[in-house]
Amino acid sequence: MKNTVITFQKAKAEGTKLTMLTAYDYSTAKLLDEAGVNSILVGDSLGNVILGYEDTIPVTMEDMIHHGAAVARGAKNALVVIDMPFMSYQVSVEEAVYNAGRLMKEGLGGAVKLEGGEEVCPQIRAIVNAGIPVMAHLGLTPQSIHIFGGHKVQGKTEAAAKKLIEAAKKVQEAGAFAVVLEAVPSKLAEMITKELAIPTIGIGAGNNCDGQVLVYQDMLGMFSDFTPKFVKRYANLGELMKTAFRTYIEEVQSGAFPAEEHAYTVDDSVIEKLY
Ligand code: KIV
Repeated sequence: MKNTVITFQKAKAEGTKLTMLTAYDYSTAKLLDEAGVNSILVGDSLGNVILGYEDTIPVTMEDMIHHGAAVARGAKNALVVIDMPFMSYQVSVEEAVYNAGRLMKEGLGGAVKLEGGEEVCPQIRAIVNAGIPVMAHLGLTPQSIHIFGGHKVQGKTEAAAKKLIEAAKKVQEAGAFAVVLEAVPSKLAEMITKELAIPTIGIGAGNNCDGQVLVYQDMLGMFSDFTPKFVKRYANLGELMKTAFRTYIEEVQSGAFPAEEHAYTVDDSVIEKLY
């Protein structure tokens, strides 16, 4: 069944949990889609896990379009949400609408995601008015890492918690169909989830959000630069991959690979004529 923003609304109404994972390429998107995930996020985390940057700041619209379209080609049923990269929506409402449009037309997304609260509500409103679903993102918003001074849990003081609750209400009012809550104390995320009519998607926000999202390389043990506390490792593919790569190297060096079954044959008579 094709997942849309209606799936998100229904899940909230019925109390069924939404599942979301990141992907950045066709093959992974296909696997996630076949596994039955509700939504695939083409996150600007691709800056870290695919492109090897220290943070998401250098990620460009071209990066997001390139990877977004690859994911969209592999996702038959999952709702593909594409992140708006740093400075593609902050400068003006017009630029935000234009760039969101590019992520839909060229990136083939089904929705876009952007970071921020009240300050980006005019952008959310305008993008939604242009017919593009918007997922909001609050709490630890990685594009503002230089303001936060690092990857820090948000909403820990009374003032910060109140600000986060207000921001969640504001992005809902502006038309967001869902909101990601990243690195937010579980009890605060639970309060926000109860306050909102739209679903909350948690990442480091406890078990009471309406859904969860993780970066797939984190949950599969494929990315070791840093691992946040909120990541659960469902498999250690990184080690499996290294073992396979090492075996390949050994087999190529020893001549064990390729074996006969991996090679093509030709009639001996053809070869004989070549001498
Ligand atoms: O870029 C990303 O992958 C994200 C998730 C961490 C929510 O925004």
